[in-house]
Amino acid sequence: MSKNITLPGLIDPHVHLRDPGQTTKEDFLSGTSAALAGGYTTVMDMPNNVEPITTLERLEAKLAGARTQVVCDIGFHFGTLGDNFEEFPKVINKVMGLKVYLNVTTGNYIIDKPRLLDIYKAWPGQKPILLHAEDDVSDLVLSTLQAVPKATHICHVSSQAELEFVIKAKEAGLPITCGVTPHHLFLTDKDAERLGTFGHMKPFLKPQADQDFLWQHLGYIDVIESDHAPHTKAEKEGDTPPFGVPGLETTLPLMLTAEAEGRLTRAQLVEKLHTNPARIFGVTPDDATRIEVSMDEHEITNDALQTKAGWSPFAGRKLVGKVTRVVLRSQTVFENGQVLASPGSGRIL
Ligand code: NCD
Ligand code: ZN
Repeated sequence: MSKNITLPGLIDPHVHLRDPGQTTKEDFLSGTSAALAGGYTTVMDMPNNVEPITTLERLEAKLAGARTQVVCDIGFHFGTLGDNFEEFPKVINKVMGLKVYLNVTTGNYIIDKPRLLDIYKAWPGQKPILLHAEDDVSDLVLSTLQAVPKATHICHVSSQAELEFVIKAKEAGLPITCGVTPHHLFLTDKDAERLGTFGHMKPFLKPQADQDFLWQHLGYIDVIESDHAPHTKAEKEGDTPPFGVPGLETTLPLMLTAEAEGRLTRAQLVEKLHTNPARIFGVTPDDATRIEVSMDEHEITNDALQTKAGWSPFAGRKLVGKVTRVVLRSQTVFENGQVLASPGSGRIL
């Protein structure tokens, strides 16, 4: 039976739009088009570009590129390798947060771990520090947060141990939030065997028991973040396949299908895809921004995707929840598979 629902515009605080530097994988126009197709009206882009966004100058260049291209609203996270503290006060009013890599991932932006405390001391004001922090670094994160209790968002929590750490830190009253990706909620290490390099991402897919723990403790998960990490098929099939999977266009259908199966409530879905990311990153909600979604079943196909990556680890899945219209500040910007907004009409946060 056909049914349509209306939701607030979704907010994704964790995407990699590859612009500038790797625009064959994605660019501001294709990435924000994928966002609209997935029901997102605001995305926040990570700083691990080919030239990482660690100076005001690079940030300004990135902003200038975005300004003429984006079709949804976009904010930017700043980057650090622990050697650019003089840039922090210059960029603080132009970014949403500071991203710090404590584990190896795409690009080579991992910091020297002893620098973490200095980074915390140097980051001015209240905007969140986002950590890529897998299991092995949880003691370091805890001691740093105890010494300098600044708002911290743990990205893409994927294992029981990581979520237990977040729960412990929350219960100790530390200012910590966390995100979980759809691939860690809907794929396991079993799928990784089937997907080959197309299932390679950081953190890696985990055993079923870890995934079960995430679902059983959904109340502690603040945000569902796509970690949209587009790479081309050729790269994924090549000799040194990069980590990462696209996710902007499949996250909402996956979550709405889970809701239909009774795995979470509508209220939880809206909280994790809209309300909590808005609160954590200081995005002001807009009453005239909404999405309309068809609850008919549809199959995820690579051909229909807006992302330049052109593939999804969820291709072939039959899901409910296809975005039919996106209204941004009273304007219809996406309808029936077509982006109607002109490039540059999205706002820079
Ligand atoms: C991300 C990418 O491709 O930029 N890859 C990934 O596997 N998640 C980097 C990251 O977020 O760690
Ligand atoms: Zn990421």
